[in-house]
Amino acid sequence: MTPDLTTNYLGIQFSSPFLIGASPLVDTIDKVLRLEDAGVSGIVMHSLFEEQLTRDAMATIAQLENPSESNPEALSYFPDVSDYSLGVEEYLAQIASVKERTGLPVIASLNGRTVGGWMEYAKEMESAGADALELNVYDVPTDPTETGAEIEARLVQIVRAVRESIRIPLAIKLAPFYTSLPNIVKQLEEAGANGVVLFNRFYQPDLNIEELEVEPRIYLSTSNELLLRLRWMAILHGRCQLSLGLSGGIHHVQDAVKAIMAGADVLQVVSLILRQGTGAMTSLMEGFKNWMEEHEYENIAQMRGCLSSKTSPNPAEFERANYLRILHLWKN
Ligand SMILES: Cc1cc2nc3c(=O)[nH]c(=O)nc-3n(C[C@H](O)[C@H](O)[C@H](O)COP(=O)(O)O)c2cc1C
Repeated sequence: MTPDLTTNYLGIQFSSPFLIGASPLVDTIDKVLRLEDAGVSGIVMHSLFEEQLTRDAMATIAQLENPSESNPEALSYFPDVSDYSLGVEEYLAQIASVKERTGLPVIASLNGRTVGGWMEYAKEMESAGADALELNVYDVPTDPTETGAEIEARLVQIVRAVRESIRIPLAIKLAPFYTSLPNIVKQLEEAGANGVVLFNRFYQPDLNIEELEVEPRIYLSTSNELLLRLRWMAILHGRCQLSLGLSGGIHHVQDAVKAIMAGADVLQVVSLILRQGTGAMTSLMEGFKNWMEEHEYENIAQMRGCLSSKTSPNPAEFERANYLRILHLWKN
């Protein structure tokens, strides 16, 4: 019997757990049509960024107030609009076009760090036809006087404000660096989030020691990144009511199986396709279906969370006990 791959995420029915994660992979309708042909079940758009939205708004105000001498210097603090492959209008048009030309659920993405006007674009994304919104509050704290509690309170404030402005489901893409991930997830659930995505990947700058410069780099992921996500997925599954998306480190059939068994509702894939093309996604999905058949799983629900910390035969493996054991094993 062909296994049933359907899964529910954020209250939306997806034909399989395999989604395209936020990236330029879905910036043109042709790319999206190819991905739909390849069998992906939904897409997350790349983000519209607070800096981009603030810059656009500033440019508009400058134009309106002082059309003859709008000051380019004032805008130079913000990244150049051309750094982004889609401007705001094009972005919204792309949502509408994907909705019109494909049957895929579309998750729009908004990315920022402060409470501000950029959050209003959530409403525009909803009006353009997005089925859900993924909010990525990416912050790199540098102020030693600002506490973790203050930063978390700001995140919750942003989530609450966005939640109040839209009716579509809302997922929060999280960083892995919280003192208590289960607690921040609980706070987000109370603030009205419908799901969380584990995890945002941090793009860490490298240092050029000859030129004495900082070098921005994007390294694509490998399966090694999965382990961090598996642990927290397994800990969260069954401890919150939210939908759980996994982003980061899905490259092989086994990665996908592990992610579902840890408790993921959907898997967002980016690096694999950037490196190997759309065909790799088809192979991954076919391989996953074959694996289910061979192991006699009839549907995703039978697999989901069977190795989470609540249901696994040995939940301590995810916690401190395993840390002690593994260190001692090494010594022996
Ligand atoms: C080129 C590129 C662009 C990305 N753009 C975004 C983005 O706009 N918003 C976002 O939340 N994540 C973005 N990401 C992160 C991915 O959505 C994803 O979380 C990350 O790549 C981990 O998944 P992977 O291991 O399958 O690559 C981007 C990643 C790459 C490689």
